[in-house]
Amino acid sequence: MKIISNNFVLLIFFSTTIFAFSQTQGTLISDMNTLRWEKVLPGVWKASFGESGLNPFDYSAPSKTNAIKNLGEAPFPFDVDSTFYQLTNERATIRLPLSKTESIYGMGLEFNGLNRRGNVYTLKVDHYGGTMGYTHAPIPFYVSSEGYGVLINSSKRIKIYVGTANRKDGKQTKPIDRATNPRDWEARPAADAIEASVQGSGLEIYIFGGTTPLESVQRYNLFCGGGILPPKWGLGFWHRTPTAYSDEDIYKEIKEFEENRFPLHVIGLEPGWQNFAYPCSYDWSEERFPNPKEFLRNLKNQDIEVNLWENPYVAPTSSLADKIKPYVGSHTVWHGTVPDYSIPEARKILMSHHQKEHIDLGISGYKIDEVDGYDFWLWPDHASFPSGNDPVEIRQLYGLMIQKEITDHFKQQNKRTYGLVRSSYIGSPSQNFVIYSDYYGHKGYVTALSNSSLAGVLWTPEIRDAKSPEEWVRRFQSVCYSPMLLLNAWASKTKPWDFEGVTDIIRENVETRLKLLPYLYTAFYNYNQQGIPPFRAMVLEKGYLGTESLSDGALDDVKNPYAEKTKLEVTDQYMMGPSILVAPFFTGQTKRDVILPKGNWYDFYTGELVGNGNIITVAAKLEQIPLFVKDGGIIPMLASTDIFDEQNLEVRHYGQKENHYLLYNDDGVSYNFEGGDFSLIQLRAFQDKNGKLKGKVKNSNSKDYRYNSINWIWMTH
Ligand code: GAL
Repeated sequence: MKIISNNFVLLIFFSTTIFAFSQTQGTLISDMNTLRWEKVLPGVWKASFGESGLNPFDYSAPSKTNAIKNLGEAPFPFDVDSTFYQLTNERATIRLPLSKTESIYGMGLEFNGLNRRGNVYTLKVDHYGGTMGYTHAPIPFYVSSEGYGVLINSSKRIKIYVGTANRKDGKQTKPIDRATNPRDWEARPAADAIEASVQGSGLEIYIFGGTTPLESVQRYNLFCGGGILPPKWGLGFWHRTPTAYSDEDIYKEIKEFEENRFPLHVIGLEPGWQNFAYPCSYDWSEERFPNPKEFLRNLKNQDIEVNLWENPYVAPTSSLADKIKPYVGSHTVWHGTVPDYSIPEARKILMSHHQKEHIDLGISGYKIDEVDGYDFWLWPDHASFPSGNDPVEIRQLYGLMIQKEITDHFKQQNKRTYGLVRSSYIGSPSQNFVIYSDYYGHKGYVTALSNSSLAGVLWTPEIRDAKSPEEWVRRFQSVCYSPMLLLNAWASKTKPWDFEGVTDIIRENVETRLKLLPYLYTAFYNYNQQGIPPFRAMVLEKGYLGTESLSDGALDDVKNPYAEKTKLEVTDQYMMGPSILVAPFFTGQTKRDVILPKGNWYDFYTGELVGNGNIITVAAKLEQIPLFVKDGGIIPMLASTDIFDEQNLEVRHYGQKENHYLLYNDDGVSYNFEGGDFSLIQLRAFQDKNGKLKGKVKNSNSKDYRYNSINWIWMTH
């Protein structure tokens, strides 16, 4: 009986396949070969053909295999025979299936939109702008709404057609005539596949399975050896001082921060700390910093870390120039030589200089600028490098190579660094760096916070300047809810207190963010252990009902001659940690909609119930950035704004639900946590016999990293 019914199922399946063949005239994908997949870890598969070039995984930390195993198995997302490749003299191409209703996210750090379907991307490290895919982190990783991820593991320039390349032997939608039916006509007929290619002789592809999109992102991050746990100071307040400031200017600036009662945890030195900045000498300016050691000691005494700006193009006058000479490429950038950092010796020369001249003196991190750039700024595609590696691939990996060298270098000294970088690539989840840009569109910056979680990178919507007090506040609020609270007024010199009437508002917002340190730090620990991004797109959130729609696509012979329907997407809200939904306001808005996932949600500030699985409209209050907390949300906060004084904790609970939360703590600076030196304190909210919520604290075995007092606050009662 059983056998017969199995045959029956098979028969139906077989006849459907035949049906598909006859519909599409001939053999399915006649000129391509079937990819063969090998399982490399639970829920992770690899396929390859031919020779790929530089392997980005050589510039990434080893995969966290145990953490991936802990996620368990996941189903292979495709029919085994539905994935293809093709190798010609010129190109290596792949074709992976796409169902009719699937949304596709990721494809790097874009500032526009989330769903990549219906577009074509050329993934190239570039200063942002223009062509789609030209960005700071053009990561060839995508996540499907159906809960799987795909990585094209190549450092070549990939061109990817996200459901637009229709084959004559693929499954095509029925044609509609534009002349008579412009509204239903598809300017970009939906294709049944994603097709991608590189100029080269092979490719390697990974599939990261999952039961949800988040799970596939976790697998990808863990496979890249991430995520990272920043030092605690890295989650404090960062201020980058203006160009060409001296030690004395900076002392003055620190005083001003103190007088204005603004905290300061990291000072970033912009161009001019060195005696030549563009190109870069990496040697201190004797004029502006006659005694860097003393300067750094003075700042350390005030608990201020120092981060150095640099670019990778070596000035002829640098003390590094002669040593690095045998390892530089054929072209110069801003008159500086371009070291070939795919050669280990070149990286060693850079780091031994940095150790002696900066790190030994107390520098705790770097800002690696200009590793992206428009074509006219960088070396040409036809440049040559001593390693013989392809200059296009070196460009793709350049920022990553330097990040890895610096992250590892600090790690060897048992120190966690945290820095800034303007380009990154596959492998970024394991690097202690945050991406920034010159682009400065507030809405785009907030969209990038969502996209960063779909690309395995961290991103800061840094604040530089504003045209009005309102804009200053709104931008400050969004940078408070990001991986790096960064003021980068290197040119404008704007200070937090420079706009009339809003200084107290800014200070309060900064203080709230600083008090959230235990919550944020724990979210980063979960990034480190489980690959869960601390700042996440809503599409990774359970119970989020999705909000894409299409414009009506009305034909307009000037504005819309192809009657294209444009995607209307929600890109202005995101998650921070397990329970907080952030919904920033932009200048000029008096109200905004917020889409709440299923379940009860509460106002962070008042504890009031605001909705459940619906769209709410929030009226703008300049003092506050709207924050909402999930039912049962447990939010540990410092009682004081001093992030190094962790004696007293206030634990907020929202809503009615019982819940428990594991609060992470450690020394905040070293890698001893990897050997078990940390504490996980269990915070449990439960209802007693009378249905009243009570809090319970269970310390972990570690005697260190506990709190003197833990005070529960029942926000909804
Ligand atoms: C830019 C960078 C800015 C700032 C500036 C200094 O390239 O994006 O953040 O560092 O250089 O010249």
